[in-house]
Amino acid sequence: MQRLKPSQGLSQLLLIRSQSSRISKGIIPLLSVWDGHLSSRWRSTGGHGGQKYFNNNGQKFRFALAGLLAGTGAVLAYKLHQSKVQWAASSAQLPVTSSPPVYTLEEVTKHRSLDNGVWVTYKGDVYDITEFVAMHPGGDKILLAAGGALEPYWALYAVHKEEHVLEILSEYKIGVLNPESIKRQESTDPLDPYSGEPSRHPALQINSLKPFNAEPPASVLADNYITPSAIFFKRNHLPVPKVDPETYRLEIEGLPGGVVSVTLSELKSRFPKHTITATLQCAGNRRSEMNKVKQVKGLNWGIAAISNATWSGASLREVLLHYGFTPEVAINAKHIQFEGLDKDVTGTAYGASINLNKALSEEGDVLLAYEMNGEDLPPDHGYPVRVVVPGVVGARNVKWLGRIVVSHEESKSHWQQNDYKGFSPGTDWDTVDFKSAPAIQELPIQSAITHPAEGSSVERGDEEVTIKGYAWSGGGREVVRVDVSVDGGNTWHVAKLHSSDLGRNPAPGRAWAWKLWEIDVPLPDGAQELEIVCKAVDNSYNTQPDTVGPIWNLRGVLSNAWHRVKVKVKDDQK
Ligand code: MTE
Repeated sequence: MQRLKPSQGLSQLLLIRSQSSRISKGIIPLLSVWDGHLSSRWRSTGGHGGQKYFNNNGQKFRFALAGLLAGTGAVLAYKLHQSKVQWAASSAQLPVTSSPPVYTLEEVTKHRSLDNGVWVTYKGDVYDITEFVAMHPGGDKILLAAGGALEPYWALYAVHKEEHVLEILSEYKIGVLNPESIKRQESTDPLDPYSGEPSRHPALQINSLKPFNAEPPASVLADNYITPSAIFFKRNHLPVPKVDPETYRLEIEGLPGGVVSVTLSELKSRFPKHTITATLQCAGNRRSEMNKVKQVKGLNWGIAAISNATWSGASLREVLLHYGFTPEVAINAKHIQFEGLDKDVTGTAYGASINLNKALSEEGDVLLAYEMNGEDLPPDHGYPVRVVVPGVVGARNVKWLGRIVVSHEESKSHWQQNDYKGFSPGTDWDTVDFKSAPAIQELPIQSAITHPAEGSSVERGDEEVTIKGYAWSGGGREVVRVDVSVDGGNTWHVAKLHSSDLGRNPAPGRAWAWKLWEIDVPLPDGAQELEIVCKAVDNSYNTQPDTVGPIWNLRGVLSNAWHRVKVKVKDDQK
């Protein structure tokens, strides 16, 4: 068995190239196999000719590894990994050894840098990931785990627990920890960054626990015009930060007077409190329907990554004007960036931006909200302050707001630049260029059926079926009609709309809140099954596409095709 010594570190990386050329000359490095596990410090660089593969695919490989940490490139990484595994399996006449090398915790902890090699442990196995880290542009994040356990860091990015990510890691395995080290490691109880999370309502349907992402059951979503905060959908990318209201400061940058630091009580006392009712919707709402067409990347949201609440706080416009925003500033500034206080292990905060016009317009109604449904914001929804950008995708409604920057450019954050963008159904992870698409801001028209549930049944003797749901459109466009069909879209009925608890209609261009709708439709004679369909129309006469296929996209965002629910018609006596 031929192994690179850990101390070779960086020089090992230089060897990768000569290794590649050896492969291309037909010199296959020795591999070892134990317990069916394949290990190779002289791993394949893929393909059937290492150098050729490296030259042609080095760029893609790096991209895949970058995505591996960010989560988004995992699919691509998996594809590359598959070809590596296939190559390794087909090329090896492999000597088999019975047991892997055993290491102590002390040996692992010596390997914390590229110079000395980067080792990590995961569930009692030891991995040498030096090569991975060096080729990976965001490798500094994983370096935080160097010389120790991966678990606490991966807890921040639960996506890494997916099977294919572990499969990729398995290629870097060099041995196992001895039992005593495992015991010691377990007893050290690595600090879980999610240990201080707030308690949540048990009715929430959890899409991911760490970070916490959950939606209310579809059946209760439209029971209340104002969604109770406890079951309002929750979309967190990182651990919920604990913010002390006494020491909290909101920093505002990019105004002529320099950086301003505002306390919570200043925000509350210096500015009038405005209240709006606004629906927030995640760009990934109804992603599960796209997944049924073809696998997409992201949390498998149902129809309830959308909720409606009242939000109270200071007007962003008034705050910016107060602290010195003038029309001259607008000559250069085009965007307002927001940064959250939730940070990843490298200290990078969640961030997003919106257009300056939306932020500064009197009709934009952008709030620095400190109340939700008449109470302090709950921890999950951004306590003590979040920005509420009505009519705009949830992702720009930054929670735990720490910083506002008036800027000539968009936020540089991953979520503004390399996520939450729409693409053609023909774009895949090999061809996607995130720079080519604008960041999602206003969302398209949306509606869905919350009652009856898919797979449920109605009694023929009832003669009618009651159908309920929600409808909403982005950019303040008002939903003016919801069409409902019980025969898959052949014939249509117009549903009754409820615009608010108070029956008030929204101001033109400021329809920030959803409309709930309801209709009783006669059961078609002799029908055994109903295919219930809904589609909404807004005041720009935008409506929803009939099927998912033509709007499918690799991130599964903007999923707003007609919503369809199938229910059985039960004959009473049976
Ligand atoms: N703000 C911060 N600081 N961190 C986040 O993870 N998630 C965004 C947005 N604001 C997020 C954030 C996304 S993607 C959505 S859809 C909404 O918050 C969800 O808001 P909610 O959890 O209050 O429903």
